[in-house]
Amino acid sequence: MTSESSQKSTNSNVRLDRLPGIDATGQWGPTGRPLPGFPTPRPLESHGPARIISMCNQKGGVGKTTSTINLGAALAEYGRRVLLVDFDPQGALSVGLGVRSQDLDVTIYNLLVERGHDAHDVIQTTRVHNLDVLPANIDLSAAEVQLVGEVAREMVLARVLRSVADEYDVILIDCQPSLGLLTVNALTASHGVVIPLEAEFFAMRGVALLVETIEKVQDRLNPRLEIDGILATMYDGRTLHSRDVVRSVVDHFGDKVFHTVISRTVKFPDATLAAEPITQYASGHGAAESYRQLARELISRGGAP
Ligand SMILES: Nc1ncnc2c1ncn2[C@@H]1O[C@H](COP(=O)(O)OP(=O)(O)O)[C@@H](O)[C@H]1O
Ligand SMILES: [Mg+2]
Repeated sequence: MTSESSQKSTNSNVRLDRLPGIDATGQWGPTGRPLPGFPTPRPLESHGPARIISMCNQKGGVGKTTSTINLGAALAEYGRRVLLVDFDPQGALSVGLGVRSQDLDVTIYNLLVERGHDAHDVIQTTRVHNLDVLPANIDLSAAEVQLVGEVAREMVLARVLRSVADEYDVILIDCQPSLGLLTVNALTASHGVVIPLEAEFFAMRGVALLVETIEKVQDRLNPRLEIDGILATMYDGRTLHSRDVVRSVVDHFGDKVFHTVISRTVKFPDATLAAEPITQYASGHGAAESYRQLARELISRGGAP
């Protein structure tokens, strides 16, 4: 509980959990709203077809890759079969899971631009049970230009994923920091979008353009697409500033903002160096628990099976 939330509960004469809309946890969450409890998800009796989610923000360094890896790993812990798609030529997702993608001859790039490959041959397992990855490397940077002349150039990733979607419960796409053709492909292939936002100055800068892009894709290419949620990352509850930013995001997006926020901690860069999800690298750390809570929140909202 933050100092503010304990203040709120001690200063108040009413039991928070008796107020309408406040769940038995009786806590105020970091987003300034009562924090609901998110139940442990039920085991799935059968698997697939996958719900596909793009992790998207054209700003770099906001926690897209970190959130893709760790949300994916947390969903996998809950028994979901998860495929992570590296859709950034930097290949950070692949490397963060211990895949030396720069040495690979065949990556997602080949699936996009060449005929005759099978996605199954490109997918790699990871050290996390139930968690697979479709790796990328710098080759992918050429795809954007190569796809421009293709028929249905926005639907190429959707076609690639169709061949494996039945084998997974969730597919998370780690988008590159741009709103170019690769990102449009990711949005066209997806059911949902999660937007990670750094809880810092200018967090909202560029978000209007991102939402506009999502709406264009909804109108023209993929009417089923919805915004699953806005995720505040690198949150520092000790600073008024971080709290103000998150609250202004809630003022703007309301219920679309996840109750779960991800705190800033050096454990994340450490886990990246170890090429492991934080849920495995520091399983008992609060940051690992945050991504588990995010997984539970996503499932309880219907964003994942
Ligand atoms: N919650 C966090 N606390 C501290 N560092 C973080 C956190 N989330 C991500 N990072 C670090 O910030 C950098 C950018 O994160 P990353 O997930 O790669 O962002 P993006 O994919 O949006 O560019 C990485 O070095 C990562 O380890
Ligand atoms: Mg990234």
